[in-house]
Amino acid sequence: MADKQADLEVGGETYHFPTLEGTVGPDVIDIRKLYGSTGRFTYDPGYKSTASCESALTYIDGDEGVLLHRGYPIGQLAEHSSFMEVSYLLLNGELPSKEELDDFTQTITYHTMIHDQMRQFYQGFRRDAHPMAIMCGVVGALSAFYHDSTDISDPEQRKIASHRLLAKMPTIAAMAYKYSVGQPFLYPDNSLSYTGNFLRMTFGVPAEEYEVVPAVEKAMDRIFILHADHEQNASTSTVRLAGSSGANPFACISAGIACLWGPAHGGANEAALNMLREIGTPDRIPHYIERAKDKNDPFRLMGFGHRVYKNYDPRATVMQKTVREVFDALKVSDPVFETALQLEEMALKDDYFVEKKLFPNVDFYSGVILSAIGFPTTMFTALFALARTVGWVAQWNEMISDPDQVIGRPRQLYTGPTERDYVPIDQR
Ligand code: SDX
Repeated sequence: MADKQADLEVGGETYHFPTLEGTVGPDVIDIRKLYGSTGRFTYDPGYKSTASCESALTYIDGDEGVLLHRGYPIGQLAEHSSFMEVSYLLLNGELPSKEELDDFTQTITYHTMIHDQMRQFYQGFRRDAHPMAIMCGVVGALSAFYHDSTDISDPEQRKIASHRLLAKMPTIAAMAYKYSVGQPFLYPDNSLSYTGNFLRMTFGVPAEEYEVVPAVEKAMDRIFILHADHEQNASTSTVRLAGSSGANPFACISAGIACLWGPAHGGANEAALNMLREIGTPDRIPHYIERAKDKNDPFRLMGFGHRVYKNYDPRATVMQKTVREVFDALKVSDPVFETALQLEEMALKDDYFVEKKLFPNVDFYSGVILSAIGFPTTMFTALFALARTVGWVAQWNEMISDPDQVIGRPRQLYTGPTERDYVPIDQR
């Protein structure tokens, strides 16, 4: 049974704080009144021991390598579900009936087009602009187009904004790719699945019919499922914090995209494949493992380690299996996969990685698959953002609809100068 309170002795006083119990996972100490009663803040840069909110969306047990979306294990969802069904689950809390899923899918399908004027935004970027720079800009620009779905106090408008974001992300991402390769944009094709439509908008050309390869469509859809949501990660926390001020939902998602871009977060999938390519052949792995262990070398094994998982990231397990399926379906191979497998094997036998509990994460193998499907490494994080949009939107809705929601405003440990008088420049 959980302790009902936590006692804190400080400054000769004892303070009592209630503990709150979730349905599963660590209890939390409710310190909302700590500053008011002790005149002290907690100090937790990086929020390693801080629960920022209550949520019913996603549960992670980092020690056991467990990931549940509304209670369903990621492995089962990846095996049996679809990205549209997982999106419905995250947004509504329960798996849909067939009719509910069909209605939801049709709603999303009929929001996939973007306002035609938005096509001009792409012309403003250099052709070699990183797709994530384009995604930040164009998604932020959605806030200038859809004024009829930005009254966040109206659940109906929140729902429309959520559907628009989920639906338009594939179109925006595909257009970012097309722009970078100088090919014409393709409009959405409503006869295709969410993922099939994305593949066609990305790889199709006006001059010929695009044939969606079922095995690739299934693998891509599974990759979207694996990236859909992940508790209070950095980009989700960014969306929550931006949304806590009542900001435009499209602008909040653009903030999430910006945060995800970092190599320590979603940008790791691009960095991981670049690293594997730089390593090249397995005989060079020991050199890079030594570099990763060297405190004086900023090099890290990209796609390895995780703030929460101190065990194998369950998404990486599914991802590794999917590599083989895509290779078989496309009758391709890539020596970098063998390098990745051997790097994993050698790292997981090395005391440094074992002691620090550094395992492959979702980003370690994803790039191998995406590259085999035909995406350039610069598109990898844009695909992560495409898939994570439903998680960001679900978390944003959960926060906004919480009647106790307040603007997020952390404090600090101030170590700057104490008060001093201004000195005129002729006296300095
Ligand atoms: C994602 O939060 C999420 O849920 C994110 C995500 C999601 O779905 O939203 O799962 C997606 O972002 C996955 C992570 C992708 N990033 C990478 O693969 C980049 C490489 N990994 C690291 O930079 C690191 O592991 C982090 C950023 C992922 C986690 O960093 P932490 O939790 O802040 O841990 P840390 O940096 O304090 O590392 C602890 C120790 C350090 O050594 P010491 O100072 O204790 O001696 O482990 C070392 C680190 O130097 N370490 C690594 C390492 N990762 C951590 N050493 C070598 N290679 C690595 N990859």
